[in-house]
Amino acid sequence: MSDDQKSAFDPNPPRRNFYGRRHGKTLRQSQKGYLSEDLGDLRPRGITVQDNPDRKPINPADIFGDDRPVWMEVGFGGGEHMVHMAHRYPEIGIIGCEPFINGVAMLLGKIRAAGVQNVSVHPGDARDLMDVLPEASLSRAFLMYPDPWPKARHHRRRFVTPEHLLPLARVMKPGGEFRVATDIPDYVRQTLEEVPPAGFDLISETGMPWDDWISTRYEQKALREGRVPHYVTFRRKA
Ligand SMILES: C[S@@+](CC[C@H](N)C(=O)[O-])C[C@H]1O[C@@H](n2cnc3c(N)ncnc32)[C@H](O)[C@@H]1O
Repeated sequence: MSDDQKSAFDPNPPRRNFYGRRHGKTLRQSQKGYLSEDLGDLRPRGITVQDNPDRKPINPADIFGDDRPVWMEVGFGGGEHMVHMAHRYPEIGIIGCEPFINGVAMLLGKIRAAGVQNVSVHPGDARDLMDVLPEASLSRAFLMYPDPWPKARHHRRRFVTPEHLLPLARVMKPGGEFRVATDIPDYVRQTLEEVPPAGFDLISETGMPWDDWISTRYEQKALREGRVPHYVTFRRKA
């Protein structure tokens, strides 16, 4: 892996803990090719501390070339939902964040196969992107099957905590939609408790997926193991 590639996968500033995995099993040759050939052009600039030590706000219009609505997916995993949304809504731009390199490689393969152009890929922590996004710049955000952190002493690591939700509220447009899917009842509880005080109204909490939903790898696993999906929708307060 070149130095450039290494820095792409080590974007976390030391002041911040990331508890998930960054690497999984050895990448296939084709996946290494996607990373070295495609990621450079698809990465948004000025997100990492190395790229932007002063944390100057970026202009999302620089990413997509115009001032289209911008959406963000936190933890896209294998990327099936992100590519599906990009394909379904060509008029928007979607930035995906995922520190797990194997997931990034999978997404890049799917982007090639689908030929979608309206995507940007931050191979790191969503908090680094939110740090440098201007206020009220996102129209929609997705948190699909976030890491459950089942042990009570780890619940503060969940995304649905003020550490993540307050920056999210800052970067979302008033009226912007925030979707959360999870199969963990206690994650639903914490989501319903913590998201509204960060500045969101609850719109719905249901077992019926959104009309434009595509099931993700984690959802398929949850269904195979007999767990029940929950779909929660919030709107950023005006
Ligand atoms: C359980 S997986 C779900 C993946 C995918 N959304 C799905 O439904 O198949 C959760 C993912 O969130 C990622 N993740 C966790 N914290 C994150 C953060 N702060 N920023 C971006 N991604 C994060 C993890 O690396 C992991 O791949």
